[in-house]
Amino acid sequence: MPRGLFITLEGLDGSGKTTQIRRLAAWMARRGLAVVETRQPGGTATGDRIREIVLDARSAALAPMAEMALLFADRAQAIAEVIEPALAHGKMVLCDRFTDSTEAYQGGGRELGSAIVLELHRLLCGDLKPDLTLLLLPGLEASLARARRRNDRVEMQTGTNEGRFEQEQDAFYRRVWQRYREIAAREPERVVLIEGDLTIDDVHEQIVEAVSERLMLVRQSA
Ligand code: TYD
Repeated sequence: MPRGLFITLEGLDGSGKTTQIRRLAAWMARRGLAVVETRQPGGTATGDRIREIVLDARSAALAPMAEMALLFADRAQAIAEVIEPALAHGKMVLCDRFTDSTEAYQGGGRELGSAIVLELHRLLCGDLKPDLTLLLLPGLEASLARARRRNDRVEMQTGTNEGRFEQEQDAFYRRVWQRYREIAAREPERVVLIEGDLTIDDVHEQIVEAVSERLMLVRQSA
């Protein structure tokens, strides 16, 4: 059985990834493709517990290295439990964030550097590379405003604050943004950069175009 495609979505908080992943999953399902949707951190029982620790605003004292180690523990579990088995069964895997997030947020944002992230990915994640990464980068200011609004809303509804990351300074997000752009420039074959303040429909169209291209390549080589 041919291996499934591994597709990741990346971007700043509030970039509209979640909406786009849902629309893409529906588009693929309409074409008869078996799709598995997952997200990081989270997506497994262990991962959901790690997610709570990492995203809980009260973990503000978490050391950057500890945070990165938890994110990689989550990822190693997700690969073993969800991602690899699905790909081996020929399914399409759509993953909301993957190692590029760690490179952008911990490597760039927290200034741990890219080298350690790439090395840990090689050691702990078997260097698993997405077949395609869709990187959504709307204007920085618009993204920040959306992330803050969403965080306030979640806090009002649930009384919890999942927004430790959103509380970071703008300088942090500028570094994340910059590192994402560097990743896209370094790996143009894998990473499709969808830039600017586009409508939801426009972004969906660009995503469908990129995914269709990869699907065609797979069919040709099968
Ligand atoms: P989430 O609620 O999933 O937000 P979003 O919808 O923006 O993806 O929160 C994930 C947060 O975790 C987000 O702020 C980015 C951060 N993160 C990292 O810092 N490093 C990582 O490796 C991953 C996967 C996420």
